Amino acid sequence: MNTLDQQTALEQAARKRIKDSHALNEDAGRLAHFYRGWASSYDLDVGRDGYCGPMIVAELAGAVQTAYLPRPRTAIAILDAGCGTGLVGVELERLGFRLIDGIDLSEEMAEQARKTHVYRHVQGDIDLNGPLSGHSSATYDITICCGVFTLGHVRPEALRELARVTRPNGFIIASTRKSYATATSFEDEVSRLQDAGVLVTAQCLKDGKYIAEEGAHYWVFKVPDRACAETEQQL
Ligand SMILES: C[S@@+](CC[C@H](N)C(=O)[O-])C[C@H]1O[C@@H](n2cnc3c(N)ncnc32)[C@H](O)[C@@H]1O
Repeated sequence: MNTLDQQTALEQAARKRIKDSHALNEDAGRLAHFYRGWASSYDLDVGRDGYCGPMIVAELAGAVQTAYLPRPRTAIAILDAGCGTGLVGVELERLGFRLIDGIDLSEEMAEQARKTHVYRHVQGDIDLNGPLSGHSSATYDITICCGVFTLGHVRPEALRELARVTRPNGFIIASTRKSYATATSFEDEVSRLQDAGVLVTAQCLKDGKYIAEEGAHYWVFKVPDRACAETEQQL
């Protein structure tokens, strides 16, 4: 096999792995098992497939901080929900953020994230499809969820818990693969949460670059100040 054939074979294997990850039916046991086996080669595989989601969500976080948040980047608390091996954390650190926590279902992915040394704290065995019971409300200025609202992974309903742990007037930044957004009617859940005063869509970059196979939508949600939201509803 020549070098070109080897490269093609590696790219095909990476694509198969990525595709297989979409068939795990949101089953926590299967997801954890799958990512346990992928943790050591994940970065190489997604890099081969042109994955740029982490850079885009981090740059959105930078724009949100500059445009809206009163404190400097070094004082902005960020939760990287579904942090994986830490690709988002590395981009955030490059942009000057320093208070970054990570959570993930897979302990092995979380361990890779710890090795980047850009996180303040990383916790594995956290299922975003359930309540984040170990996490206090209104803790983070920005909550990021990249590559996690993906087929077979995390349901759109998880947005409610992400909003709960985010501070009033803070932001949630999330990517949704196009196929996921359509299959799960993600926008319907966004409308329900918006009607309930849980979040407001501040920006959406539709059909941005994500990975070779397909694009993604990038969402910026604002978590409203409860007192203001309640007053507006009464008017
Ligand atoms: C495609 S990777 C994305 C990782 C990282 N955010 C990135 O952009 O490279 C998906 C990550 O979500 C995690 N994950 C999948 N289902 C999850 C769930 N129900 N709760 C928490 N994390 C989950 C996986 O363990 C994996 O690390």
